[in-house]
Amino acid sequence: MSGKQEFHDHITEGYLSKGESITLGAAMLNGETVANALVKIPLKTLNRHGLIAGATGTGKTKTLQVLAENLSEKGIPVLLMDMKGDLSGIARPSPGHPKIDERHEKIGIPFNPKKFPVEILTLSEQEGVRLRATVSEFGPVLISRILGVSETQAGIISILFKYCDDNKLPLLDLKDFKKILQYATDEGKAEIAKEYGRISPASSGAILRKIVELEQQGGDRFFGEKSFDTDDLLRVDENGMGYINIVRLTDIQDRPKLFSTFMLCLLAEVYSTFPEQGDSGRPELVIFIDEAHLIFKEASDALLDQIESIVKLIRSKGVGLYFVTQNPTDVPDAVLSQLGLKVQHALRAFTAKDRKAIKLTAENYPLSKYYRTDEVLTSLGIGEALVSALNEKGIPTPLAATMLRAPMSRMDVLEENELKELIAGSKLVNKYNQEIDRASAYEMLNEKIEAANQEEAKEKARQEKEAAKEASSGRRSTSRRRSTRSPIEKVLTSPTVIRSVLGILTKLLK
Ligand SMILES: Nc1ncnc2c1ncn2[C@@H]1O[C@H](COP(=O)(O)OP(=O)(O)O)[C@@H](O)[C@H]1O
Ligand SMILES: [Mg+2]
Repeated sequence: MSGKQEFHDHITEGYLSKGESITLGAAMLNGETVANALVKIPLKTLNRHGLIAGATGTGKTKTLQVLAENLSEKGIPVLLMDMKGDLSGIARPSPGHPKIDERHEKIGIPFNPKKFPVEILTLSEQEGVRLRATVSEFGPVLISRILGVSETQAGIISILFKYCDDNKLPLLDLKDFKKILQYATDEGKAEIAKEYGRISPASSGAILRKIVELEQQGGDRFFGEKSFDTDDLLRVDENGMGYINIVRLTDIQDRPKLFSTFMLCLLAEVYSTFPEQGDSGRPELVIFIDEAHLIFKEASDALLDQIESIVKLIRSKGVGLYFVTQNPTDVPDAVLSQLGLKVQHALRAFTAKDRKAIKLTAENYPLSKYYRTDEVLTSLGIGEALVSALNEKGIPTPLAATMLRAPMSRMDVLEENELKELIAGSKLVNKYNQEIDRASAYEMLNEKIEAANQEEAKEKARQEKEAAKEASSGRRSTSRRRSTRSPIEKVLTSPTVIRSVLGILTKLLK
């Protein structure tokens, strides 16, 4: 048996799967693609999370595209965090290219151009379905972690949430949150102190500054209604293809805080709303995060802890998370150690630091008698990668330098008019894109303050009148002084039940 045949069998056996699988490409030996030595990833292990890494221009985003398309084809919905805006082309078929044909010839599988059902989502004013969440939904624990406040300040935030909850004051946007903070040290000071304890103006001021910081990163656009229902991420089209939901984040790159806030909220919401999955043999949803270093870049330790625990737990809900980034070291160790699929594109060895990173990366891959991992890492071509996955039994597959298949959809972005057409045809845009600013804490507290002021004015007038009467009659008043503090119950109006992820998150935090 020739070395090539032996290698072919080694790969084919190593990547054998009884259930459904996705084909990534064919394995390579000594820089040559071995036709039909197919690298297949079982659907069953795709909720075990993954990493796509490699230097710029080596093919990471296209690998993401390939994975997303193949999942969609199997009826599995996908959520893509598109930092550079280069994935919208998935909505149109590939125009084909002689180089693509050549690639597929080598791999040994046919190339069929195809388009996929796409929904465009946005965090900002850009076109697409608006993604929003209310402050209440975040809950005090998560809000505190996002703001990066001290423990004392977190305690105050919890009190304020409790106060709003008890008094049915909906906290929808940051305006509401700021209002209750200000109210707690001003007009409502005595009332809140009586029931919940005193809130120091210094602490509330510190919290306020953190909120303003978040606002400056555009957080105000993200908080509010109508809040996004994560079930809408699970749509399958009439042909049984899973929707590929693309969140356009081109304008968020310089605002890592907003991005990590959004990711954490989304993951928490998905975790709290999705049912526990048995061993269904396929993921419910797969989330890809391109340029993932941005979530970890400016995250505080508390936020990192939170992300790490959600990453761990969300798997049980059938959700796979895939991080796409240049260097594996961009992802925290605690997350790295949980990954099932690793697709490592070429790394460049310019500096001593690079060489060290390569050595470290190589050590994290299974040994193979066919490869010297560190050498392969620097010699891989574009659209080629070292792959290591988990087989159906959860055992690591043999290491495979892989010639990756090409995306079936367009590798280039949609034209402006194509994008408009896509968004015009979206059902979700109508559902989510109306501006709603219903009466919430801000308005209600203002009303309450106004009412209290009027009451006070009336009371003053009454007392003055009484005093005048007393003075004229010489009698002492026996009337009891009425309290000027009107009970907050008077302003309870909204029937909104504050959905809170607090319970779940508190569990998570243990
Ligand atoms: N699997 C692939 N099939 C065909 N061409 C590819 C593939 N992967 C990468 N390429 C080519 O390489 C270019 C860069 O790939 P890209 O995924 O954008 O790199 P990265 O995200 O790592 O910066 C693509 O525009 C495409 O021309
Ligand atoms: Mg890229």
